[in-house]
Amino acid sequence: MPSSAALLQTQAYYSTAWAAAAADPARFWGDYARQFVWRKPWQTVYQADLAKPDIAWFSGAELNITENCLDRWAQLQPDAPALIWEPSHPDDAAKTYTYGQLLSEVTRLAAALRGLGVQRGDRVCIYLPMIPELAFAVLACARIGAVHSVVFGGFSPKSVADRLQDAGAKIVLTATGGHRAGKPIQLKNIVDEALLSCPGVSQVLVLNVPAIPAPMQPGRDLDWATTLADADANQGYAEPMEAEDMLFILYTSGSTGKPKGVVHTCAGYMVWAHFTFTNVFQYQRGQVFFCTADVGWITGHSYLLYGSLLAGATTLMFEGVPTWPTPARFWQVIDRHKVDIFYTAPTAIRSLMAAGDEHLQGADLGSLKVLGSVGEPINEEAWHWYHRNIGKGRCPIVDTWWQTETGGIMISPLAGVTPSIPAHATLPLPGVVPMLIDEHGAEVTGNPAQGNLVIKQAWPGMMRTTYGDHERFRQTYFSAYPGQYFTGDGAMRDADGNYRITGRVDDVINVSGHRIGTAEVENAINAADGVTESAVVGRPHDIKGQGLYAYVVYANPPQDHVVAHAQILAEVTKQIGAIAKPDWIQFVPGLPKTRSGKIMRRILRKIAEGDTANLGDTSTLLDPAVVDAIAQHRLT
Ligand code: PRX
Repeated sequence: MPSSAALLQTQAYYSTAWAAAAADPARFWGDYARQFVWRKPWQTVYQADLAKPDIAWFSGAELNITENCLDRWAQLQPDAPALIWEPSHPDDAAKTYTYGQLLSEVTRLAAALRGLGVQRGDRVCIYLPMIPELAFAVLACARIGAVHSVVFGGFSPKSVADRLQDAGAKIVLTATGGHRAGKPIQLKNIVDEALLSCPGVSQVLVLNVPAIPAPMQPGRDLDWATTLADADANQGYAEPMEAEDMLFILYTSGSTGKPKGVVHTCAGYMVWAHFTFTNVFQYQRGQVFFCTADVGWITGHSYLLYGSLLAGATTLMFEGVPTWPTPARFWQVIDRHKVDIFYTAPTAIRSLMAAGDEHLQGADLGSLKVLGSVGEPINEEAWHWYHRNIGKGRCPIVDTWWQTETGGIMISPLAGVTPSIPAHATLPLPGVVPMLIDEHGAEVTGNPAQGNLVIKQAWPGMMRTTYGDHERFRQTYFSAYPGQYFTGDGAMRDADGNYRITGRVDDVINVSGHRIGTAEVENAINAADGVTESAVVGRPHDIKGQGLYAYVVYANPPQDHVVAHAQILAEVTKQIGAIAKPDWIQFVPGLPKTRSGKIMRRILRKIAEGDTANLGDTSTLLDPAVVDAIAQHRLT
């Protein structure tokens, strides 16, 4: 059965394990994987040809990840809390589901989905607020072998439609609405609008949130409660899945305009989620784990749900936001539920730091043992504030570097076992063999060093393909350095081999820890009335880490800048969602381009950052004068 204990409890053992996993991955992961529940053993631990790329782990094996997350723990510790749900409003009651109860909720929904004709391999789109049913939905899909595609609740109808079409989903699971910062928000109307362009979707299972009614479309929409009540209880069994069957698709922004469907498969992902959860956080039996990420992002998948449940932990799901009703909310939730491990994003830490330390008065935080950070580089000031004020100087911080594509944490301290260094993700986990590459494509050896971050060997949790487009997978990750996985990030390595991630080196920007592709935002801006073209770059932002700075060219300069500004924001919200709204919009006469028509983003980035004295050689530009015009009117 999956163990709840960390394998790597000393630094010496970490070093030995890292070397063993690098030298003989098949042996290391074969040994590790024996603890899980398999319906059929594997024949080969792994085969990986990263040049193709063709990756398989535990081929020949059969399993169901939910038997490892739920059934085993429901047998061993049926009354242990599996999921605690803290609602948006602090006066509403929290709910706790034991392992026994969570298994029965998931089984019921699995039976209902089977009853609706959802079969193994079918894609199911989940568009739900952060409520327990979201966890049930993800796990119920996994139980029957359907592929879940969770879409973050903040995405627009168009984004939902794009994802539904790409995945070829036939059914959507949603709710009439949810709550954000004390206010009701409609969700079903977003699905209704998305479905106008998705004729392939024939069923929508709708959870009725009584305070937020929504009209139902007869023949298509089904009431959640009635459907569950009518389901045949015997149909909730776990489907035996092949190791390399798809477990889920999760869409993420890339450097082209079209979001890509990152595909993770059953066995390798399970092993990686469990290994990284137990070791990085040094989880101990009975601890409460609070991951503040939405299940709509990979962190919510791998740690709020799979990793913690695989270890038999108690996972806490919070419907609310850090600053409502006050910036003390996280601390109240931690004290109320005696949270041991707290995992959040630097943007949240910075916004709570900015709100003032008075919100910490009265907070005990004595239950905390380990703090985590994820999603973007954490600056030293935020790191120290987090360490001093939240961890009271006694909790190790794990700055965990990873990506949607990597399935789980790749570079991170092991809490209290290997050293934490402010603003450094530090050391690669066993199974992760990183290297740095210079601008000529050569490996930078020795320490210290700096370059593009590449991973040399396959690891169990890595993505297997881009849904429906394997060539895009090869092109995006394996073509820059054939035979190796290119992360899209730059990094530095210090004299002791510790990694510090410096940020994206492609056209992806991390805004509040969310990945935004500049091309997607530009496409949306270009759809606004009168716009001919635009360019979006990142600019440091006190709270968000990076903000979006948009340069926009109109055919005829807009009469009213306030109106034009509002139209652009509205268009981005409509096409993508509010998370992609630019923070700065500058109307410009043209964009700096090379003679071949390529936009010189390097120059635009420098102007946005205020570094106008170091724009480099602009003489090769088609129209060098445009640079001065832009620089003169830059927004501060
Ligand atoms: O640039 C890196 C940054 O977030 C990117 C991955 O984004 P996403 O797929 O949305 O996953 C976020 C949650 C895992 C990376 O390419 N990133 C993530 N964690 C860190 C980080 N940058 C610096 N330090 C981190 N700890």
